Amino acid sequence: MAKADIQDSLEKIKTVAKINEGKNLKYSILTMGCQLNENDSEKLSGMMEEMNYIKTDKLSDADLIVFNTCCVRENAEDKLFGKLGEVKKYKEEKGTIIAIGGCMMQEKHIVEKLKQSYPFFDIIFGPHTLAQFPVDLCKILYNRKRIEDILDIDGEIIEGLPIRRDDNVKASVAIMNGCNNFCTYCIVPYVRGRERSREPKDIIEEVKQLAEQGYKEIMLLGQNVNSYLRTEKENNIHFEEYEGVNSFATLLRAVNKIEGIERIRFISPHPKDFTDDVIEAIRDCDKVCKLVHLPLQSGSSEILKAMNRKYSKEQYLNLVEKMKKNIPNLTLSTDIIVGFPGETEENFKDTLDVVEKVNFEQVYMFIYSRRVGTPGDKMKNQISENIKHERFDRLKKLVEKQIELKNMEYINTVQNVLIEGRSKTNENMLTGRTDSNKVVVLEGPDDLIGKVLPLTIISEHMWYLKGKIIK
Ligand code: SAH
Ligand code: SF4
Ligand code: F3S
Repeated sequence: MAKADIQDSLEKIKTVAKINEGKNLKYSILTMGCQLNENDSEKLSGMMEEMNYIKTDKLSDADLIVFNTCCVRENAEDKLFGKLGEVKKYKEEKGTIIAIGGCMMQEKHIVEKLKQSYPFFDIIFGPHTLAQFPVDLCKILYNRKRIEDILDIDGEIIEGLPIRRDDNVKASVAIMNGCNNFCTYCIVPYVRGRERSREPKDIIEEVKQLAEQGYKEIMLLGQNVNSYLRTEKENNIHFEEYEGVNSFATLLRAVNKIEGIERIRFISPHPKDFTDDVIEAIRDCDKVCKLVHLPLQSGSSEILKAMNRKYSKEQYLNLVEKMKKNIPNLTLSTDIIVGFPGETEENFKDTLDVVEKVNFEQVYMFIYSRRVGTPGDKMKNQISENIKHERFDRLKKLVEKQIELKNMEYINTVQNVLIEGRSKTNENMLTGRTDSNKVVVLEGPDDLIGKVLPLTIISEHMWYLKGKIIK
């Protein structure tokens, strides 16, 4: 597999570090997208810290502000433009360097808008040019001339960048980049390019290193994780098998063997690619959490067809049945879009029906958002905002009712909880998660952080449970 040559970037990191030495410079990074976007931000943070910038959450204190954008839904755009308005004054007052990266920068109409309405930025870069960030920044330090560093071809796999992780207990590991599925509502394949998998050895060695550093939970990331290495196999692209890894199922089995790691999660798999070997691996691997995120998108076969999801309502329900039969204690979470073009009341009722039947542990609900350049945007039968919101509210009601009932079932049970740290909203409490990804808060000392403990659940509060240490 082709890997990007990052030698130039590593050299520029040293150059910038020298320029910045002793200046006590600060950076802020705003991460606006999915977990892959967060993982990219951790790499950007790693590079910035090696270049002698110190992290600050206060934008007014920063000498360098990086936006890591997302464009999967419209609200992501509104958020960026709002924030840019805010940082303009810092730029004017103290010459803060403004860099804008991420998926949205692959959209030509957005870059045009930035140039016209927010021309004070210094660097624009995309997901394909992430590793070039130190090179771009170095140019800016020498010569304050605006840079647009966007590639229209897929960036190669990057290995060996510094990384500064946000958490000490959980770590995410990207296993592949891009998507080949072209769901008709979705912008991701256009901005992230085609599927490219990382070499098995690079992933396994990264996880081993994380285990040595004391990380307990690994989240394997990709837009379509269960097609890991598929493109390579289909196109005879060379990859090295390592510790038996030649597919997503064998990857799960290999990561499961790594000592020190206690939990393995992954997002997102695609229902159409959920092969039996993956089901068997989830069943057999004790560290693989039995909560599986299985994006539904719609419960209507007609809408699923229009979405190009390549499965029907019945196929989704059959898959759920098969998984439940084979994996003891399986729980499921999902993503659902309401108001896709052409969605009738009947179609929407099919979505409610699947939600009723599957009884998900968690449902991430989205109102359909038109994305420029996708087939969905060109469809004539768009749904009115009123109807979209009304359906969203109905779905939300059903989901909340189900979650409440499910939460009740947790009371008085014993759950294994991985303690992640102090609660952000209440310093007196620790917070952790069950295997099924439910948040549990409890009272306890700091030395429990990073441990998996059996807790008795004593109460439920919609978005979290309260637990007690078993004496
Ligand atoms: N690759 C993953 C995640 C894609 S983005 C997957 O296939 O599941 C995360 C979620 O955003 C999607 O699952 C979908 O529910 C939602 N989404 C994507 N495009 C959208 C759009 N145009 N409008 C509303 N929601 C969208
Ligand atoms: Fe988007 Fe579909 Fe790819 Fe997920 S699988 S990233 S929803 S095109
Ligand atoms: Fe993620 Fe948003 Fe890009 S969801 S892949 S950051 S468009």
